[in-house]
Amino acid sequence: MSPTAEAVIELRDVRKSFGAQKVLDGLSFQVPRGRCLAIMGPSGTGKSVILRHVIGLLKADAGVVSVEGRDVARLSKHELSDLRKRMGFLFQEGALINWLTVGENVALPLRENTRLPDAEIRRKVQEKLELVHIPDAWDKLPAQISGGMKKRVGLARALITDPEIVLYDEPNAGLDPEISQSINDLLRELHERLRVTALLVEHRVRCIRTVADEVLFLEKGRVLVQLPPREFFASDHPRLVQFLGKDPD
Ligand SMILES: Nc1ncnc2c1ncn2[C@@H]1O[C@H](COP(=O)(O)OP(=O)(O)O)[C@@H](O)[C@H]1O
Ligand SMILES: [Mg+2]
Repeated sequence: MSPTAEAVIELRDVRKSFGAQKVLDGLSFQVPRGRCLAIMGPSGTGKSVILRHVIGLLKADAGVVSVEGRDVARLSKHELSDLRKRMGFLFQEGALINWLTVGENVALPLRENTRLPDAEIRRKVQEKLELVHIPDAWDKLPAQISGGMKKRVGLARALITDPEIVLYDEPNAGLDPEISQSINDLLRELHERLRVTALLVEHRVRCIRTVADEVLFLEKGRVLVQLPPREFFASDHPRLVQFLGKDPD
């Protein structure tokens, strides 16, 4: 990813501790417009913490987190809420509401944040269900659908506001390899069609190979290596060999 391209998401020397525990320790990276950067690293290293800084749910102790050139920590409540409307999130657990149908789960961000008329909301929801290849799922309840389908619903909900930026926290967690590859193919297809800028927290090699333009390995709160997937997975860096050797996919 060329450093001269316009950065949509940028972290500059970000530091964050919880009590005595240093989690981010001088972390810097950029994601240019329309690109997908994957973040890899052992569990508990701060990957989800990074995403929460980008959404403005956490504030750095030092350094700058900027989105579209604006320092997220300095935005007013109103500006932050505007920014969040332009971002989609796919959380690790999927986070569907059990008592709402698939259609109403996907509609939720529009019902909560816009005054669109019901017919318009229904049209947009159906469009997104089609986009993630589950056109007939509207009336189903989360308990009635498979794990792979729940991810698709979560993805439809993440995309319902037509965000320019999407954050994925382990979109493959809990899925078997076959279903996970179908989610990876879907993510790739969406990125090609929608040209969103994305941060992808993931440890599965196939997902990163399919979806990401670059991969960053997070260690001790900073970037150990950042490379395009092909070079990353071919690297003979001892730490990467050790990590990837333990986690074949
Ligand atoms: N709000 C919080 N308060 C205290 N500790 C936290 C908080 N959020 C995360 N942590 C700690 O920060 C570390 C990194 O967490 P996280 O980003 O969730 O890891 P992962 O890389 O697995 O996503 C963990 O040790 C976690 O316990
Ligand atoms: Mg996490």
